[in-house]
Amino acid sequence: MRALHELSLSVADGETVAVVGASGCGKTTLLELICGLQQPDAGAVRSAPAALMPQRDLLLPWLDAVDNAALALRVKGLNRAQARAQVDPWFERLGLGGFEHARPYELSGGMRQRVAFLRTLLAGKPVLALDEPFAALDALTRAEMQAWLARILAAEPRTVVLVTHDVEEAVLLADRVVVLSPRPGRVIADLTVPGNRPRHRADAAVVALRAQALEALGVMA
Ligand SMILES: Nc1ncnc2c1ncn2[C@@H]1O[C@H](COP(=O)(O)OP(=O)(O)OP(=O)(O)O)[C@@H](O)[C@H]1O
Ligand SMILES: [Mg+2]
Repeated sequence: MRALHELSLSVADGETVAVVGASGCGKTTLLELICGLQQPDAGAVRSAPAALMPQRDLLLPWLDAVDNAALALRVKGLNRAQARAQVDPWFERLGLGGFEHARPYELSGGMRQRVAFLRTLLAGKPVLALDEPFAALDALTRAEMQAWLARILAAEPRTVVLVTHDVEEAVLLADRVVVLSPRPGRVIADLTVPGNRPRHRADAAVVALRAQALEALGVMA
């Protein structure tokens, strides 16, 4: 069974590209290809090193928030004290101050996603592959987290491939919105978002592009 077929996508250095498409159209597969976690059966993938923020929150329940965020550094060979020292200053910056010693179950959904994002960021790769980072959050928290991510990426520019079900999120955060067809996924629309960030939901350009992307998805705007 093919997850993706004849998919062609290029992402420029420093660009944020959002990928939207129906469930099962191959979005996670695309990110895993970019990160080298899967190999294509045909075709080729060329990418700078990329770190994946997986679709499921994979925080380890027995580690506190700092140790969870530090996992990528531990994997690189830093010892616990070195890794924690690198992670610590980020907590305040990411709105996690005071939660250093909290276990995942003591964190809100938004905080868990901040920790998971920090772990991905600290992997130190030029490309971030974010798989529906805010999908499990309530609407209000999701809106907060979108503004949060926009702020972080403005301060810490990376090349970002953001998979999301939320077309408005795609338009708010990305330079381009790529719409995939149902399985097997291929690119059926590649929309450039006009205007600088930060963007607002009510911006005319955001509203218009959201409608365009929904139309490409076959959803009534
Ligand atoms: N390792 C695998 N082997 C075979 N088929 C797979 C594998 N992983 C995923 N698939 C299938 O490939 C298709 C694409 O899956 P993928 O998880 O990439 O979709 P997705 O767009 O991320 O979906 P969702 O929006 O639900 O997360 C699905 O039909 C899925 O069942
Ligand atoms: Mg997926």
